Amino acid sequence: MLVVIPQLLDEAALTRARALLDAAAFGDGRVTAGELAAAAKQNLQLPADAPATRTLQDMIAAALEASVEFVSAVLPRHIHPALINRYLPGMAFGAHVDNAIRFDGSALLRADLAATLFLNAPEDYDGGALAIDDSYGARLVKGQPGDLVVYPASSIHAVQPVTRGQRDVAILWIQSLVREAGQRRALYDLDRAIRSLRERAPESPEILTLTGVYHNLLRAAAEL
Ligand code: NI
Repeated sequence: MLVVIPQLLDEAALTRARALLDAAAFGDGRVTAGELAAAAKQNLQLPADAPATRTLQDMIAAALEASVEFVSAVLPRHIHPALINRYLPGMAFGAHVDNAIRFDGSALLRADLAATLFLNAPEDYDGGALAIDDSYGARLVKGQPGDLVVYPASSIHAVQPVTRGQRDVAILWIQSLVREAGQRRALYDLDRAIRSLRERAPESPEILTLTGVYHNLLRAAAEL
């Protein structure tokens, strides 16, 4: 399942992020790639110890936590701090799969889901689409600034070569409370239906029953 969360970062957060990105000194992106991915990865990355990195990571983490849609779709257990990547003309990330297990500096994390947060406008660059193979075939994504796209970390994906301009993104990996994608999807659909019912018919007695069903299913599926 591929989920797009529009405007995870609002206008004010984006402006602040852009100022940090414009002033930052990027390094080689291959430092955090696994052995196979390193051969495919040609991009720039903000060093982990750059002052802007921590600020951007905290801003993004706060926006994720505040997003009802993100929490509902992903059921996050553990979120890897964002990597901030820049692609200039000639740069690309060939087809690869992400490492199943990552170390975030203090703990191991099972990457169930990967996410790309777009930090500038699609008009700012040519090429550079995120290409994701899922069960419905290949999807090409170029998000609006602030948009987040979430996809299975197990899928084969790539960033097509940038041929003009600059593409800035943040990359995240998430361990979900619910490992199995089908169960996670069913819980997301149920939660969305309950939220919609709450808005359209807040007096419905079924809301309580369905909310109970949701939590009982989550209780059965969740790994803590
Ligand atoms: Ni990847």
